[in-house]
Amino acid sequence: MSIIRYNFSNPINTALLLYILYSVQRILYPPLSKPKTIPHEFKSGYTWMPKTHPPTVLFRTYTPRTLVKFDGQDGGRILLAINGTVFDVTAGKNFYGPDGMYGNFAGHDASRGMAKQSFELDMLTPIDDPIDKLTDLRADEIENMKGWYDHFANKYIICGKLVENEEHQTEAQSEVQIPT
Ligand code: HEM
Repeated sequence: MSIIRYNFSNPINTALLLYILYSVQRILYPPLSKPKTIPHEFKSGYTWMPKTHPPTVLFRTYTPRTLVKFDGQDGGRILLAINGTVFDVTAGKNFYGPDGMYGNFAGHDASRGMAKQSFELDMLTPIDDPIDKLTDLRADEIENMKGWYDHFANKYIICGKLVENEEHQTEAQSEVQIPT
């Protein structure tokens, strides 16, 4: 039986051992400071761990009254709904923030405005009313809304579903069936 003996007098062995110890401590205790360039792909291993976990988005239901709290007026998250789907559009706060061109949509069901290509206030349903059924829209307007829906689905995070306020919840939901 042969016993492998580590020979410290050999500088190559010593260098190798130091390298292994260094690599192990990098894995066990990754540095918390941001590197100059943030790694965007996994190559040989991670060498940097963010201080905190990135924010997670919880998919949940919103009613017109709970959605309106996310109008960005307080500098917080901005949500809007299209055809029953709630999008987190905080990343587009230049559009939907208090001074944004489409700020009226923030915290609201934007379906009618998207369909009719109008950001006027009368496109919005009062938050205490049942959700807009959109039954009077023409086919081309529905198509228009579908186009915007796709744009938002590609650009923003879907974070919930718009349902009726409690007192209207026995009524049918407002979703227009978008032709696929
Ligand atoms: C005065 C006419 C308008 C002008 C000059 C205008 C201009 C623009 C510009 C420059 C963008 C940014 C495009 C990009 O960088 O991707 C944009 C996006 C957009 N516009 Fe308009 N727009 C007009 C009318 C409207 C109307 C009437 C609506 C109503 C629905 C509308 C809804 C939107 C939406 C939803 C976006 C996408 C924003 C996003 O990606 O979050 N726009 N518009």
